[in-house]
Amino acid sequence: MTHRRKIFVGNWKMNKLPQEAQAFCEVFAPAVAAVKNADVGLAAAAVLIPGLTTRYRGLQWFAQNCHWAASGAFTGELSTAMLKSVDVSGSLVAHSERRQMCGETNTTAGQRVAALLGAGLQAILCIGETLAERDSGRWREVLQEQLEQGLAATGIKNWSAALGSDPERPLLTFAYEPVWAIGTGRAATSGQAQEAHAFIRGWLINYFGNDIAQRLRIQYGGSVTLQNVDELMSMPDIDGALVGGASLKPDDFAQLVLRGVRNA
Ligand code: PGA
Repeated sequence: MTHRRKIFVGNWKMNKLPQEAQAFCEVFAPAVAAVKNADVGLAAAAVLIPGLTTRYRGLQWFAQNCHWAASGAFTGELSTAMLKSVDVSGSLVAHSERRQMCGETNTTAGQRVAALLGAGLQAILCIGETLAERDSGRWREVLQEQLEQGLAATGIKNWSAALGSDPERPLLTFAYEPVWAIGTGRAATSGQAQEAHAFIRGWLINYFGNDIAQRLRIQYGGSVTLQNVDELMSMPDIDGALVGGASLKPDDFAQLVLRGVRNA
């Protein structure tokens, strides 16, 4: 089996002010400094990022969104050049909160992915079904549609673009985040998560071919905690975690990462 380097990213969402972010890093960065076998990062609001990226180079920094155009009349958006100017590693794309509240679609998600990969930045493309879609047994169709439409909208033909130049850190990562598990305290069981990740992996093998698909990472997100991280990370197709609520306190998130990397 291909070894994939695990990736743990805290998604701070619309939380923290600069001083709070700084105080977090003073505790968190030394606590995870010894982690060498996995990537550890934070997806922070854009105003928090300058300064932190240069000061805490051992962590990866992600924006929470990125536009596809190089510049122009797109009020409220961020370009890849802006992200590069503050040394971020990449950006989340199409988090379910943006799909539900900000009009994000599979098409716009794909356009964002294309811009990021084109700029040599990492894209973490979030997908996942709602509770109604899970309960009606349609979750596979939903994931397939998100993947199919999202990747088609990138316009990319040569998918070696998804790998980039660092063999340990492919530029394209997927985050499977069932909407019913986000912020609810009701994480997917390790069995449910592995089943969905294996489904996604199978789809990716068909789409990209085995070589690329085996190298791309699929994170799990949705109520990941210190209690469930171990079991989730022991699953063969789960390559890391995207963590919301449990990433807000530095000691707690450091412990979660340290426990998660035991399976890395
Ligand atoms: P949660 O959020 O860990 O608070 O469920 C995860 C996410 O939204 O990425």
